Amino acid sequence: MTGCKPVTFARLHVEDAERLCGFYNGLSPEAIRTFRPLGTATSVAVCREIARDNTPEHDVRCDILAWREGVIVGWCFLWKLDSPEALFGLAVADACRGQGIGSALARQVMVAAAGRGVRRVVLTVVKDNLVARKIYERLSFTVYGEHIDPGDGLTYLKMAAAIPTAVPSRVGRVSHECNNQPVPTVTPSTMALPPCTTPPLEPP
Ligand SMILES: CC(C)(COP(=O)(O)OP(=O)(O)OC[C@H]1O[C@@H](n2cnc3c(N)ncnc32)[C@H](O)[C@@H]1OP(=O)(O)O)[C@@H](O)C(=O)NCCC(=O)NCCS
Repeated sequence: MTGCKPVTFARLHVEDAERLCGFYNGLSPEAIRTFRPLGTATSVAVCREIARDNTPEHDVRCDILAWREGVIVGWCFLWKLDSPEALFGLAVADACRGQGIGSALARQVMVAAAGRGVRRVVLTVVKDNLVARKIYERLSFTVYGEHIDPGDGLTYLKMAAAIPTAVPSRVGRVSHECNNQPVPTVTPSTMALPPCTTPPLEPP
């Protein structure tokens, strides 16, 4: 493989809000069909609020970004950390899909969840989103509900994963802090991956 570019993972900081906004608003309509935690488009102000919730003063969210050459190529989050069930979300830039970034990000966030003592993580996924479901099933998410959204007519699955109480041992380099505790990594926090020059595998 030529031209491998590393991807690094780091928790969202307030100064990243503008770039997170750009990442979200740059997702294709096809991606927004299956991932719209912030609606069809967002603002820098909203992204700043999310980033603030990642600071020690607020600390009710854990958002992890995947970066390649200073550009956000993926975002995975755990929200509602102050509730019994943390809410999980995941997206990868259209041009960077199929390179293992989504799987790696999801693993990072689930390890962060274990490190924080989260017991249960829930998510909603469009039933026909087989790529996302594959990632979730590998992480031991199981389906506990199904419904059709009257707004968009899509069938959604509710999935949940129980998090083991034991914190996995740290294998890779710690790239950032989560809730003032080092985030243990099951994979190195820097990955060598191909550049984002390939077209999306799933056309919009
Ligand atoms: C779902 C999503 C995050 C996956 O990210 P990704 O970086 O492309 O995922 P990965 O590269 O880690 O691939 C995961 C698995 O799916 C497979 N896969 C990826 N794209 C595929 C495609 N177009 N067709 C078939 N399989 C595919 C990969 O081969 C991999 O399986 P493997 O490890 O057995 O080889 C990404 O497609 C995305 O952002 N989609 C739009 C937003 C979205 O739907 N988010 C989920 C909301 S619940």
